[in-house]
Amino acid sequence: VNRHQAAFRLAAEHGLRFASRGRSMWPLLRPGDLTIAEPLTGAPREGDVLVYRKGTYLIAHRFIGLLSDGRLRLHGDFLLDEDPPLAPTDVLGRVVAIERDGRRISLDSGLPRVLAFALPPLRRHAPRFLRSARAALSRAANRFDHIHTAAPVRALLRKLAPPFTVGLADDAAALRAYHVALGGSGNEYAALEPGEFTVVAKIGDRIAGCTHVLDPPWTRAANLAGDLWIHDTQVGRRYQGLGIGRAVTEFALAELRRRGIGRVRVAIRPENRRSQLLHESVGFVSIGLLGGHQLYELALARQKGLG
Ligand SMILES: CC(C)(COP(=O)(O)OP(=O)(O)OC[C@H]1O[C@@H](n2cnc3c(N)ncnc32)[C@H](O)[C@@H]1OP(=O)(O)O)[C@@H](O)C(=O)NCCC(=O)NCCS
Repeated sequence: VNRHQAAFRLAAEHGLRFASRGRSMWPLLRPGDLTIAEPLTGAPREGDVLVYRKGTYLIAHRFIGLLSDGRLRLHGDFLLDEDPPLAPTDVLGRVVAIERDGRRISLDSGLPRVLAFALPPLRRHAPRFLRSARAALSRAANRFDHIHTAAPVRALLRKLAPPFTVGLADDAAALRAYHVALGGSGNEYAALEPGEFTVVAKIGDRIAGCTHVLDPPWTRAANLAGDLWIHDTQVGRRYQGLGIGRAVTEFALAELRRRGIGRVRVAIRPENRRSQLLHESVGFVSIGLLGGHQLYELALARQKGLG
């Protein structure tokens, strides 16, 4: 509570500037944008983007109306569900501008203004339309990804692309910055357990892709703990199709074999055909479904020390 109050006081006095990480307010806010908020003076207006604190994160979501008890209704533009109601005293500020690629974008003009004007009534009167629009955008993005890395494009890109190197991650700060730029918090892989590791591909000094080998906490709920999982393989969009996903995956598998690990798993969304094809091509076989993901498994070696 004290920390929260301190943050509130700070926001009230100076305003807030923080990096946007997720995609919950896409297309208004993108990962890496700098979000600029000012203290809220007076009541919020419908369509305002308000900032509040959730644990160690700052959330900036759109104000879509009041409940009868005076609490605020907030909703991430690109999310399916509304946030839990917010007490007015928990609001830390109102987003007034975004800085993207050195450019300042005001929320009071252009597309941001149109979104602020149109989204609250649409959310009230046509929630199904917004849901289908979101699903259509996700499908389109998936299709775009497939096309921009289609086989002939991959073959051509690989001829033109600069060379990359692959190895175990050795620069925690660079890895953190890479995950923040991709929309993560940067803390996800800061403290790995013994036996867990991260593989990165670099073009020059720049990280272009990575994968992680973990025993992630969510497998405990499914009684699948104890095995290592390939997790969160991410290749920056401009570097996709160059062979980096395959290279980090194959490096991780070679490292697991070297360590005498017998089995590794991966969970992939059903619509992510690219990732499924990549993992199938290195020997993973589908073993079922878990929480909307397709589960894959690969037997690496029968005995310790083999491979
Ligand atoms: C999926 C992902 C990791 C693949 O990495 P990549 O560097 O783009 O892929 P690569 O160039 O190494 O290609 C590896 C294999 O993926 C498959 N693949 C890649 N793009 C494909 C496409 N458009 N259509 C079909 N298969 C495709 C192929 O099997 C390819 O092997 P090949 O070129 O030798 O035939 C990467 O695109 C990515 O980060 N996507 C977003 C995040 C994600 O989905 N992560 C996986 C979570 S499980």
